[in-house]
Amino acid sequence: MPRIIEWLDTVDSTMRVAAERASAGAPAGSVVAAEEQTEGRGRLGRSWQSPRGTGLYFTQILRPALAREQIPVLTLAIGLAAADAIKLFTGVACDIRWPNDLLAGDRKLCGILAQWQAGAVLAGVGVNVNQSEFTEELRPLATSLRMVTGACFDRRLLLKAIAACIDAHVRILETSGASAIVALFTSASSYVEGRRVAVDLPGGLLRGVTAGLTPDGFLKLRREDGTLRTITAGGVRPDVGQ
Ligand code: BTN
Repeated sequence: MPRIIEWLDTVDSTMRVAAERASAGAPAGSVVAAEEQTEGRGRLGRSWQSPRGTGLYFTQILRPALAREQIPVLTLAIGLAAADAIKLFTGVACDIRWPNDLLAGDRKLCGILAQWQAGAVLAGVGVNVNQSEFTEELRPLATSLRMVTGACFDRRLLLKAIAACIDAHVRILETSGASAIVALFTSASSYVEGRRVAVDLPGGLLRGVTAGLTPDGFLKLRREDGTLRTITAGGVRPDVGQ
C-alpha cells in the first residue's frame, strides 16, 4: 500500500495535525509534513525553529504491536532509523546523543519528538536540510546537511527515505525485541559508554560518566561516588565544566 503523505504549507505543528489524523483513524505509516511550522515543538518543552522551505518537518503515525513500556526503546529506534536514512541518502554519518538527537560534528542536525497520543505513537522528525545559516542563538549548536556537505537535498525524497527506515526499525523492534535496538543503538552512539556528561533534570544538574543502556533503553550514569543512576528523561550534554 502506498504511504499517505500530506504535505501542508503552514501549520502550527505537524504533531497537532497528525494527532487529529490519528484520532480520525489514519493508517500506520501516514505522514503529515509542512513547508513551515509556526509553533514547532521540541523535546522537554522546547520549541523547534521551522523556517519555510529549508528544513524538513514531519510527523509519522505509528501503530506498533508493542506494549506501552517498550515506547522508550521505540524512541531510540526512530533515531537510529533517521541516522541510517540520512547516511544512505546523503553520505553524512551522524552520532546519536541519547535518546535521539542526531549530531554531525557535535552540532545538531536532526531532532525527534516521540509522543503516545490518540491511540498511536506520533514520531515527529525535524531535519536541518538546506539551511545556510541559523539564528544567533542556534548558530553554535546547529548544523544542516547543506553546511556539512555543500549540497542541497530534495526534502520530499529524504522524507520518504526516513519514513521507510522508521517502518523498518519498528519491524525490527516488533520481531527481534528491545535487545536488538539496544544493541544497534549502543554501536551507533558515542554517548552510551564512557562519556562524561551533564544531565539537566527537573531537580538540577546531574554529572557522571555514561555506563551503557538498561534493557529497556534508559541511560545508565556512573557518578563520582561510584553509584549508578538511571536516566529516564532529560537533556544530556558533554560535561565540559570539570
Ligand atoms: C527535539 O527537541 O530535538 C525534537 C524536535 C522535533 C521537531 C519536529 S519538526 C516536525 C515535528 N513537529 C513538531 O512540532 N516537532 C517535530
